[in-house]
Amino acid sequence: MRTQVGIIGAGPAGLMLSHLLHRQGIESVVLEAHTRQYVEQRVRAGVLEQNTTELLIETGVGARLQKEGLVHRGIELSFAGERHRIDFQDLIGRSITVYGQQEVIKDLIAARVTAGGQIYFEARGISLEGLDGPTPAIRFEADGERRELHCDFIAGCDGSHGISRASIPEGALQTFERIYPFAWLGILAEAPPASEEIIYTYHERGFALFSMRSPQITRLYLQCAPDEDIALWPDERIWQELHTRMGTRDGWRPSEGPILQKGVTGVRSLVTEPMQYGRLFLAGDSAHIVPPTGAKGMNLAIADVRVLAKGLAAFYASGSRKLLDEYSTTCLSRVWKVQRFSWWMTSMLHRCDTGDGFDHRRQLAELDYVTSSRAAAASLAENYVGLPMEGTTPRANTCEIVR
Ligand code: APR
Ligand code: PHB
Repeated sequence: MRTQVGIIGAGPAGLMLSHLLHRQGIESVVLEAHTRQYVEQRVRAGVLEQNTTELLIETGVGARLQKEGLVHRGIELSFAGERHRIDFQDLIGRSITVYGQQEVIKDLIAARVTAGGQIYFEARGISLEGLDGPTPAIRFEADGERRELHCDFIAGCDGSHGISRASIPEGALQTFERIYPFAWLGILAEAPPASEEIIYTYHERGFALFSMRSPQITRLYLQCAPDEDIALWPDERIWQELHTRMGTRDGWRPSEGPILQKGVTGVRSLVTEPMQYGRLFLAGDSAHIVPPTGAKGMNLAIADVRVLAKGLAAFYASGSRKLLDEYSTTCLSRVWKVQRFSWWMTSMLHRCDTGDGFDHRRQLAELDYVTSSRAAAASLAENYVGLPMEGTTPRANTCEIVR
């Protein structure tokens, strides 16, 4: 088998890359370890930066997003029993859209399938060959047959546990990591969201996050231990803890409902440099992981493949490797800014007990500053809705584009 770009992984990075390449007349094949049903049902993040929303709409995969996505013009920060609004619209004239990652996945898979794109689900035993030569190849097994896919380039979009990064010889990459001493316990509840906007809460007992997926479904998270045993969290204990941390003096608290799904998500920062080895390009979680507090994982994955698609399009149009050679540098400049923002949100909002009360007071002061200084609030807003993409000028807000 032969294709121009072999893509490992059908997450947001891999599928979006395949979609963008197709629009430039470049052929690709996507290899995914799991079934279509599995990747379409997997519950992950759900906040789209305005950049991401615009890209989905402009490239023809935004119809359902425009109908079902919830446009948010701000978020709330809650601490010391009070909620404070950060008004993105007022501060920077842009907004975000709440739309589940698995919905983006469904839309992208549907678009690829309709366009006759090749996606091998349940691809097993993937190995990469000849990455530092001119004709790399991917060996894999699908539909009970061993296959070999010859490519011009390979995109490693297989997430944090994939084989792409692991296929690069030791010593060719550097990794920078920060482990945090906590994780998130997340639930999906069948309850109409009690607030129209996302609420980030800092509480003495730890961080809590209120989000949603639809007018019927609430998504909630609690800071917990990194090795938290979910079996110790019966539904009743989860609700009680959510109410304790999130309840504000005006009587607000999240509405309860049957818990549909429960899980523990790690909190980690990791960056791999460079994001390229020979003809293999890493994109998304295979190259970097951000703590979920800034809601950046999916947006960063999409930003990477946008740069990669542009580089590949230039290569096939003119033979120029300039943009491809700059891929890693271009992406890393954004990655580190996003990493900084996610780290900052994380350290402002989580309880990290050093015992002497210094951090607790510093965090309360930081929250007080962010919610009372227009300059500080605007900085949060600008990062949250998404820094401008390389070579683009920020546009009017999503509300006008989506509705
Ligand atoms: N072979 C083939 N596919 C693989 C392999 C492998 N060896 N290992 C992993 N995969 C697949 C996974 O099953 C998954 O579908 O690669 C895909 C990677 O997708 P994501 O993990 O979603 O990563 P990415 O596309 O970079 O998107 C990053 O996803 O997990 C969230 O928080 C993350 O929001 C961020 C976003
Ligand atoms: C979510 O809705 O799942 C969500 C929202 C904001 C975050 C992380 C996750 O920072």
